[in-house]
Amino acid sequence: MRRKFVAGNWKMNGSLESANALVKALVASIGNSPAADVVVCPPFIHLESVAALVNGSGVSLGAQNLADEEAGAYTGEVSGAMLKDVGCEYVIIGHSERRTLYGEDDALVSKKFLRARDEGLIPILCVGESLEERESGAMESVIARQIDAVLTAAGVQALCNSVIAYEPVWAIGTGMTATPEQAQDVHAFIRSRIAAEDAAAAEGVRILYGGSANAANAATLFGQPDIDGGLIGGASLKAEDFVTICAAAA
Ligand code: 13P
Repeated sequence: MRRKFVAGNWKMNGSLESANALVKALVASIGNSPAADVVVCPPFIHLESVAALVNGSGVSLGAQNLADEEAGAYTGEVSGAMLKDVGCEYVIIGHSERRTLYGEDDALVSKKFLRARDEGLIPILCVGESLEERESGAMESVIARQIDAVLTAAGVQALCNSVIAYEPVWAIGTGMTATPEQAQDVHAFIRSRIAAEDAAAAEGVRILYGGSANAANAATLFGQPDIDGGLIGGASLKAEDFVTICAAAA
Protein backbone atom coordinates (compact mmCIF):
# COMPACT_ATOMS: atom_id res chain seq x y z
CA MET A 1 0.00 0.00 0.00
CA ARG A 2 1.25 3.47 -0.87
CA ARG A 3 1.05 5.94 2.00
CA LYS A 4 -0.99 8.97 0.99
CA PHE A 5 0.75 12.32 0.59
CA VAL A 6 -0.63 15.87 0.71
CA ALA A 7 1.50 18.91 -0.05
CA GLY A 8 0.49 22.57 0.12
CA ASN A 9 2.06 24.82 -2.50
CA TRP A 10 1.65 28.30 -1.06
CA LYS A 11 3.07 29.89 -4.24
CA MET A 12 3.89 33.62 -3.88
CA ASN A 13 1.34 34.38 -1.18
CA GLY A 14 1.27 35.67 2.37
CA SER A 15 3.41 37.64 4.77
CA LEU A 16 5.81 36.40 7.42
CA GLU A 17 3.01 36.85 9.93
CA SER A 18 0.39 34.99 7.92
CA ALA A 19 2.83 32.16 7.05
CA ASN A 20 3.62 31.65 10.72
CA ALA A 21 -0.04 31.78 11.72
CA LEU A 22 -1.00 29.27 9.02
CA VAL A 23 1.67 26.76 9.93
CA LYS A 24 0.96 27.07 13.67
CA ALA A 25 -2.69 26.25 12.99
CA LEU A 26 -1.71 23.28 10.82
CA VAL A 27 0.73 21.84 13.34
CA ALA A 28 -1.88 22.19 16.10
CA SER A 29 -4.53 20.33 14.08
CA ILE A 30 -2.39 17.75 12.31
CA GLY A 31 -0.34 16.70 15.32
CA ASN A 32 2.73 14.50 15.42
CA SER A 33 1.65 11.39 13.59
CA PRO A 34 -0.76 12.12 10.75
CA ALA A 35 -2.13 9.17 8.78
CA ALA A 36 -0.68 10.65 5.57
CA ASP A 37 2.56 12.45 4.74
CA VAL A 38 1.89 16.20 5.04
CA VAL A 39 4.20 18.82 3.52
CA VAL A 40 4.03 22.60 3.26
CA CYS A 41 5.94 24.55 0.60
CA PRO A 42 6.15 28.23 1.60
CA PRO A 43 7.99 30.92 -0.39
CA PHE A 44 11.80 30.77 0.04
CA ILE A 45 11.85 33.82 2.29
CA HIS A 46 9.56 32.15 4.85
CA LEU A 47 11.21 28.72 4.88
CA GLU A 48 13.44 29.25 7.87
CA SER A 49 10.69 30.63 10.04
CA VAL A 50 8.24 27.88 9.05
CA ALA A 51 10.98 25.26 9.58
CA ALA A 52 11.26 26.25 13.23
CA LEU A 53 7.51 25.89 13.67
CA VAL A 54 7.19 22.45 12.02
CA ASN A 55 10.23 21.05 13.80
CA GLY A 56 9.27 17.86 15.66
CA SER A 57 5.72 17.85 14.23
CA GLY A 58 4.05 15.63 11.65
CA VAL A 59 4.37 18.39 9.04
CA SER A 60 7.39 18.39 6.73
CA LEU A 61 8.93 21.21 4.75
CA GLY A 62 9.40 21.66 1.01
CA ALA A 63 10.49 24.43 -1.33
CA GLN A 64 8.80 25.51 -4.55
CA ASN A 65 11.89 25.57 -6.77
CA LEU A 66 15.68 25.32 -6.69
CA ALA A 67 18.63 26.40 -8.80
CA ASP A 68 19.94 23.98 -11.40
CA GLU A 69 23.51 24.87 -10.44
CA GLU A 70 25.32 23.87 -7.26
CA ALA A 71 26.72 27.25 -6.13
CA GLY A 72 28.36 30.36 -7.48
CA ALA A 73 27.60 33.53 -9.40
CA TYR A 74 23.87 33.00 -10.03
CA THR A 75 22.25 36.17 -8.75
CA GLY A 76 18.82 35.64 -7.26
CA GLU A 77 18.98 31.83 -7.23
CA VAL A 78 18.62 29.47 -4.24
CA SER A 79 20.62 26.23 -4.18
CA GLY A 80 19.52 22.80 -3.08
CA ALA A 81 22.16 22.83 -0.33
CA MET A 82 20.65 26.04 1.04
CA LEU A 83 17.23 24.42 1.10
CA LYS A 84 18.59 21.38 2.95
CA ASP A 85 20.35 23.70 5.33
CA VAL A 86 17.11 25.33 6.47
CA GLY A 87 15.33 21.99 6.89
CA CYS A 88 13.65 21.24 3.56
CA GLU A 89 13.09 17.58 2.72
CA TYR A 90 11.18 18.14 -0.51
CA VAL A 91 11.26 20.46 -3.49
CA ILE A 92 8.69 21.04 -6.20
CA ILE A 93 10.25 20.68 -9.66
CA GLY A 94 8.78 21.67 -13.01
CA HIS A 95 5.56 23.27 -11.80
CA SER A 96 3.58 24.44 -14.84
CA GLU A 97 3.95 28.04 -13.67
CA ARG A 98 7.74 27.58 -13.87
CA ARG A 99 7.43 25.87 -17.25
CA THR A 100 5.11 28.44 -18.84
CA LEU A 101 5.98 31.74 -17.10
CA TYR A 102 9.72 31.18 -16.61
CA GLY A 103 10.52 29.10 -19.67
CA GLU A 104 11.62 25.92 -17.89
CA ASP A 105 11.83 23.20 -20.51
CA ASP A 106 12.18 19.44 -20.03
CA ALA A 107 15.97 19.66 -20.10
CA LEU A 108 16.09 22.25 -17.32
CA VAL A 109 13.45 20.41 -15.30
CA SER A 110 15.51 17.21 -15.58
CA LYS A 111 18.65 19.07 -14.53
CA LYS A 112 16.87 20.49 -11.48
CA PHE A 113 15.50 17.02 -10.68
CA LEU A 114 19.03 15.59 -10.65
CA ARG A 115 20.35 18.52 -8.62
CA ALA A 116 17.63 18.01 -6.01
CA ARG A 117 18.46 14.30 -5.75
CA ASP A 118 22.18 15.05 -5.48
CA GLU A 119 21.45 17.37 -2.55
CA GLY A 120 19.35 14.73 -0.80
CA LEU A 121 16.04 16.49 -1.45
CA ILE A 122 12.99 14.52 -2.61
CA PRO A 123 11.63 16.04 -5.81
CA ILE A 124 7.91 16.51 -6.32
CA LEU A 125 7.94 16.41 -10.12
CA CYS A 126 5.01 18.19 -11.76
CA VAL A 127 3.64 17.21 -15.15
CA GLY A 128 0.45 18.21 -16.94
CA GLU A 129 -1.11 19.26 -20.20
CA SER A 130 -2.69 22.55 -21.25
CA LEU A 131 -6.32 22.74 -22.34
CA GLU A 132 -5.23 23.14 -25.96
CA GLU A 133 -3.06 20.02 -25.70
CA ARG A 134 -5.93 18.02 -24.18
CA GLU A 135 -8.44 19.20 -26.77
CA SER A 136 -6.11 18.49 -29.67
CA GLY A 137 -5.54 14.92 -28.46
CA ALA A 138 -1.90 15.55 -27.50
CA MET A 139 -2.37 14.94 -23.77
CA GLU A 140 -0.71 11.54 -23.54
CA SER A 141 2.22 12.53 -25.73
CA VAL A 142 2.84 15.67 -23.62
CA ILE A 143 2.74 13.76 -20.32
CA ALA A 144 4.88 10.97 -21.78
CA ARG A 145 7.45 13.51 -23.00
CA GLN A 146 7.62 15.19 -19.57
CA ILE A 147 7.98 11.87 -17.72
CA ASP A 148 10.40 10.35 -20.23
CA ALA A 149 12.73 13.38 -20.01
CA VAL A 150 13.29 12.69 -16.31
CA LEU A 151 13.28 8.90 -16.72
CA THR A 152 16.06 9.19 -19.28
CA ALA A 153 18.09 11.68 -17.25
CA ALA A 154 17.70 10.13 -13.80
CA GLY A 155 16.63 6.51 -14.30
CA VAL A 156 13.51 4.72 -13.13
CA GLN A 157 14.72 4.11 -9.55
CA ALA A 158 15.33 7.83 -8.95
CA LEU A 159 11.91 8.68 -10.32
CA CYS A 160 10.21 6.11 -8.14
CA ASN A 161 11.94 7.33 -5.01
CA SER A 162 10.42 10.73 -5.75
CA VAL A 163 6.86 12.00 -5.87
CA ILE A 164 5.01 12.85 -9.08
CA ALA A 165 2.21 15.41 -9.30
CA TYR A 166 -0.22 15.40 -12.20
CA GLU A 167 -1.48 18.95 -12.54
CA PRO A 168 -3.56 19.66 -15.63
CA VAL A 169 -2.76 23.28 -16.44
CA TRP A 170 -6.43 24.04 -17.20
CA ALA A 171 -7.42 22.98 -13.68
CA ILE A 172 -4.89 25.10 -11.77
CA GLY A 173 -6.49 28.01 -9.97
CA THR A 174 -9.53 27.88 -12.27
CA GLY A 175 -12.04 26.01 -10.14
CA MET A 176 -12.27 23.53 -13.05
CA THR A 177 -11.15 20.40 -11.18
CA ALA A 178 -10.47 17.34 -13.32
CA THR A 179 -13.15 14.75 -12.67
CA PRO A 180 -11.94 11.79 -10.60
CA GLU A 181 -12.21 9.66 -13.76
CA GLN A 182 -10.17 12.11 -15.87
CA ALA A 183 -7.48 12.31 -13.20
CA GLN A 184 -7.46 8.54 -12.61
CA ASP A 185 -6.99 7.90 -16.34
CA VAL A 186 -3.88 10.10 -16.48
CA HIS A 187 -2.49 8.73 -13.22
CA ALA A 188 -2.88 5.19 -14.56
CA PHE A 189 -1.21 6.28 -17.79
CA ILE A 190 1.77 7.73 -15.86
CA ARG A 191 2.06 4.58 -13.77
CA SER A 192 1.94 2.36 -16.85
CA ARG A 193 4.61 4.46 -18.51
CA ILE A 194 6.91 3.85 -15.53
CA ALA A 195 5.84 0.20 -15.27
CA ALA A 196 7.17 -0.35 -18.77
CA GLU A 197 10.62 0.28 -17.24
CA ASP A 198 10.10 -1.32 -13.83
CA ALA A 199 6.75 -2.73 -12.73
CA ALA A 200 7.58 -2.98 -9.01
CA ALA A 201 8.91 0.59 -8.88
CA ALA A 202 5.79 1.89 -10.63
CA GLU A 203 3.62 0.23 -7.96
CA GLY A 204 5.46 2.14 -5.23
CA VAL A 205 5.66 5.64 -6.66
CA ARG A 206 3.19 8.16 -5.31
CA ILE A 207 1.30 10.20 -7.88
CA LEU A 208 -0.53 13.27 -6.57
CA TYR A 209 -3.32 15.18 -8.23
CA GLY A 210 -3.24 19.00 -8.33
CA GLY A 211 -5.61 21.54 -9.82
CA SER A 212 -8.52 23.09 -7.91
CA ALA A 213 -8.51 20.26 -5.38
CA ASN A 214 -10.38 21.40 -2.28
CA ALA A 215 -11.99 20.29 0.97
CA ALA A 216 -15.15 19.22 -0.85
CA ASN A 217 -13.65 17.14 -3.68
CA ALA A 218 -10.47 15.73 -2.10
CA ALA A 219 -11.95 12.52 -0.69
CA THR A 220 -13.42 11.45 -4.05
CA LEU A 221 -10.20 12.24 -5.89
CA PHE A 222 -8.06 10.45 -3.32
CA GLY A 223 -10.39 7.45 -3.48
CA GLN A 224 -9.25 6.65 -7.03
CA PRO A 225 -6.89 3.67 -7.21
CA ASP A 226 -3.94 5.55 -8.72
CA ILE A 227 -4.37 8.89 -6.92
CA ASP A 228 -2.10 8.89 -3.88
CA GLY A 229 -2.87 12.37 -2.55
CA GLY A 230 -2.74 15.95 -3.71
CA LEU A 231 -0.62 19.00 -4.44
CA ILE A 232 -2.85 21.78 -3.22
CA GLY A 233 -2.60 25.46 -4.16
CA GLY A 234 -5.33 27.89 -3.09
CA ALA A 235 -6.98 25.59 -0.55
CA SER A 236 -3.65 25.07 1.24
CA LEU A 237 -3.70 28.71 2.34
CA LYS A 238 -6.70 28.11 4.60
CA ALA A 239 -5.76 25.99 7.60
CA GLU A 240 -9.22 24.51 8.04
CA ASP A 241 -9.50 23.49 4.38
CA PHE A 242 -6.00 22.04 4.24
CA VAL A 243 -6.60 20.04 7.42
CA THR A 244 -9.83 18.65 5.92
CA ILE A 245 -7.90 17.70 2.75
CA CYS A 246 -5.22 15.95 4.84
CA ALA A 247 -7.95 14.07 6.73
CA ALA A 248 -9.44 12.99 3.38
CA ALA A 249 -6.09 11.36 2.59
CA ALA A 250 -6.02 9.29 5.76
P1 13P B 1 -4.82 25.25 -7.10
O1 13P B 1 -5.09 24.20 -6.06
O2 13P B 1 -4.91 26.64 -6.58
O3 13P B 1 -5.63 25.02 -8.34
O4 13P B 1 -3.28 25.08 -7.52
C1 13P B 1 -2.79 23.83 -7.81
C2 13P B 1 -1.31 23.92 -7.92
O5 13P B 1 -0.78 24.53 -8.84
C3 13P B 1 -0.51 23.29 -6.87
O6 13P B 1 0.83 23.23 -7.22
